Amino acid sequence: MTRGEGCGDAILTDILRTVDELNGLKDVDAILEAILLEARKLTGADAGTIFVVRDGRLAFGYVNNDTLFPEGRDGSVSPEVYQSYTLPLDGTSLVGHVALTGQPLLIDDAYALSPDLPYRFNKSFDEQTGYRTRSLLTLPIKSIDGHLMGVMQLINARGPDGLPAPFAPSLAAYLPIFAQHAAAAIERGRMTRELVLRMVRMAELRDPSETGAHVQRVGAYAAEIYHSWALKRKVPLKTIKRQKDLLRIAAMLHDVGKVGVSDAILKKPERLTGDEFATMQWHTVYGARLFDTSLGDLDELCRDIALRHHERWAGGGYPGQIDDRGEDPPDGVRLGEALTGEAIPLAARITALADVYDALSSRRTYKNPWPEDRVLDLIRRESGRHFDPEVVEAFFAIQDIIRAIRARYPDPMD
Ligand code: C2E
Ligand code: SIN
Ligand code: SIN
Ligand code: FE
Ligand code: FE
Repeated sequence: MTRGEGCGDAILTDILRTVDELNGLKDVDAILEAILLEARKLTGADAGTIFVVRDGRLAFGYVNNDTLFPEGRDGSVSPEVYQSYTLPLDGTSLVGHVALTGQPLLIDDAYALSPDLPYRFNKSFDEQTGYRTRSLLTLPIKSIDGHLMGVMQLINARGPDGLPAPFAPSLAAYLPIFAQHAAAAIERGRMTRELVLRMVRMAELRDPSETGAHVQRVGAYAAEIYHSWALKRKVPLKTIKRQKDLLRIAAMLHDVGKVGVSDAILKKPERLTGDEFATMQWHTVYGARLFDTSLGDLDELCRDIALRHHERWAGGGYPGQIDDRGEDPPDGVRLGEALTGEAIPLAARITALADVYDALSSRRTYKNPWPEDRVLDLIRRESGRHFDPEVVEAFFAIQDIIRAIRARYPDPMD
């Protein structure tokens, strides 16, 4: 995989193909994952990390490593993806030094650095994991206007024989072009995420339970459950990536329709009466109407999820068969016969599980958080009743990732 000297044109062609790939993605996490994967393909690196600038520090944005987490190669995630870890933005670390100077840095052996250098290689990751870092290519990710967005570190180049080798010096000249496109993609992904979070904050003004953390978790759970489901179904990796990216965003918006429900019901600190709950059920329809003027895949998915995330696999959910595109206020309009099984869109079946898992695990004005074993018991019992059994199975297959997500997006109160 490693490119030798004199292969500049081949690298440029690869970079252009990669830029196309990045431009097809919407969510910032999916973009970071793709950037790292593509940079490793371009350079033959065994491992890599992206740090992003956040609140004046360098935050671990994405990591993958073929040796330690070999599944990273086929695009599956490891729980490490969701781990939080930050470095100060100063010149003492290698990554910090590159951030400050804005220049790429090529190192053949991380353990043979002169002690006179202002920065040192941090061995703690190697010591904790038993991994042995040798060659390093560390480069800044800067926006077109020169603004620092992050740092990418590529680790352990491999020669054509698959054995460790230094990075080709020509890469230091070509990769900044790639990094600039990467910066543009990250900026675009952040704008999308920001737009979604803005819609969520609007809903949050009304419903205190719809916090930013709750929607981030539901989005991440849904994306990872889908990934697990799709690997089992042998869905092509390209499709998985595209769908996972859209699903993460759409699942975050599952409850935006709550903005259409009155405060008296939404903020009631007790259990709802039958009538109140009947009104509350309309949040599904209100949400779907927000995405009515469907222009593309994402709107379609947002609509499916908003409308169908309270349907139940064996029936008995809501809103069921209904003319949800009508202009009239729904007062007096009855909800229809519930959908069942695969008539419920897959994305909604997945989001249903993600939403209930998160609602039960969290504090609500009307309930305390449940302990994990009680939550998992309920989900197991409801397999084939409330939930699609295959979705439940996909969920149980990735409990380590689910827990890592919960730890990454804690509720501000708890
Ligand atoms: P939510 O709080 O986001 O809850 C989402 C779903 O999680 C609920 O859908 C339900 O399937 C499940 N869930 C939440 N809490 C519990 C619980 O204590 N026990 C069990 N077995 N399941 C639970 P559901 O029931 O259709 O409710 C939709 C939304 O209506 C809820 O969203 C919440 O905003 C509101 N809501 C439901 N029940 C009450 C209530 O008693 N009081 C108030 N104030 N709001 C309620
Ligand atoms: C994000 O941009 O992913 C939200 C904030 C965070 O990850 O901590
Ligand atoms: C992340 O999603 O964790 C990093 C990107 C960002 O903070 O916008
Ligand atoms: Fe809901
Ligand atoms: Fe919810």
